[in-house]
Amino acid sequence: MNAKLWGGRFSGALDPLMEEFNASIDFDRRLWQADILGSQAYARALARAGLLTEQEAEQIVAGLERVAGEWRAGCFEIANGDEDIHTANERRLTELIGPVAGKLHTGRSRNDQVATDLRLWLREELRTSQQELRTLIGVAVERAADEIDLLMPGYTHLQPAQPTRWSHWLLSHAWAWQRDALRLQDLLARVNLMPLGNGALAGNPFPIDRDQLARDLGFDAPTPNSLDGVSDRDFVAETLFWAAMTMLHLSRWAEDLIIYSSREFSFVTLADAYSTGSSLMPQKKNPDSLELLRGKAGRVFGKMSGLLMTLKGLPSTYNKDLQEDKEPLFDAIETVNRALPVAAGALATLTVYGLNMARALVPEMLATDLAEYLVRKGVPFRETHHVAGAAVALAESQGIALTDLPLAELRSLHPAFEEDVAAIWSYARSVEQRDVRGGTSRRAVQEQIDDLLQWLDEPA
Ligand code: ARG
Repeated sequence: MNAKLWGGRFSGALDPLMEEFNASIDFDRRLWQADILGSQAYARALARAGLLTEQEAEQIVAGLERVAGEWRAGCFEIANGDEDIHTANERRLTELIGPVAGKLHTGRSRNDQVATDLRLWLREELRTSQQELRTLIGVAVERAADEIDLLMPGYTHLQPAQPTRWSHWLLSHAWAWQRDALRLQDLLARVNLMPLGNGALAGNPFPIDRDQLARDLGFDAPTPNSLDGVSDRDFVAETLFWAAMTMLHLSRWAEDLIIYSSREFSFVTLADAYSTGSSLMPQKKNPDSLELLRGKAGRVFGKMSGLLMTLKGLPSTYNKDLQEDKEPLFDAIETVNRALPVAAGALATLTVYGLNMARALVPEMLATDLAEYLVRKGVPFRETHHVAGAAVALAESQGIALTDLPLAELRSLHPAFEEDVAAIWSYARSVEQRDVRGGTSRRAVQEQIDDLLQWLDEPA
């Protein structure tokens, strides 16, 4: 007799190569707990529908508990022919409780089972991600509050642009991470739906109460269409996009810090705990944590595009191609869930050199303020921009700083310049001028801190 779950109509055995090619147990074993929980709830649903006696259901639930115990203790033995986690758990259950185990799969298919397991597993992982994201945002906000008085150059095109605050830079990334957290919250609603009860594709022939089953498993609702329910992997694709976006944000943040930690900038140094050395050059201290965060983004983007390729053009309902959904998902989730705490740790422990940031502020970064001075005197901005540009050129041609141009020289460029122009040559004043919501003034930055703190206070 063929020992396969599906072996009834087969007389020939699988080619060993095909056996290996077909098996997913090496990677889907991590769904063991979800698979057990799903089966226990399903056994109870079968009992409620009159397909199992109370006693049979209890036997199955208790047997599955023993199987879970073996997984937990690390002593579950995968047997030859355990094709996937569903097969493995049922095979072991049968060994433990005998033929009654054969009633568990009534009306169920591995198609609705695997889709349910994956959602159960993912839901828990994403809750971890959500916590990790919030921790990271918390670290950024805390630093932003503590270090609100540190000024630093703001860059566009990586060229010195205008003065800003270190806290404003920190918060710029915190807001991107908050979007990742909100996006995650949003997609969880589409993860948390239950395909169980869809059978192979056409639904369950027995009077299973899917609403009750969904409640038992903590799902928001059962999926509404069996054909769609067994093959919908949008939730995997969305998660991979979320993961890609989160890694993209981490990579941009990491890149900034890699630059700021270079000798030439010296705005920050990473703690030893997040740096590594060179095997050849004794003096080196490299920001490997940040480089890995940057590098791993590429890996996650690859997982996302790979899955989209797998899904594209698939005919309706379950196709074995869908087994390819797991490895990219597992890898991406593992990558993000490892990356987030490393980012939080690196950010919490780095040292900031406020003096070096202040020294990097250059007078030309106040050229915009010079133009704005004239605007306040009633000169149209287009003209003031031109005048301030001419002032930069004039200072450059004389080999002096913009801020050292005598008033007489400024007046030669525009008659509206007066004594009070001297007041604009202050980086502190420049950042304070930008007092609108989202600006660089102390008040405006504090407002962002308060908003994020309030959001962090609300339960996830
Ligand atoms: N290991 C399979 C998967 O991950 C389980 C579902 C198998 N279904 C089937 N009809 N062969 O997709």
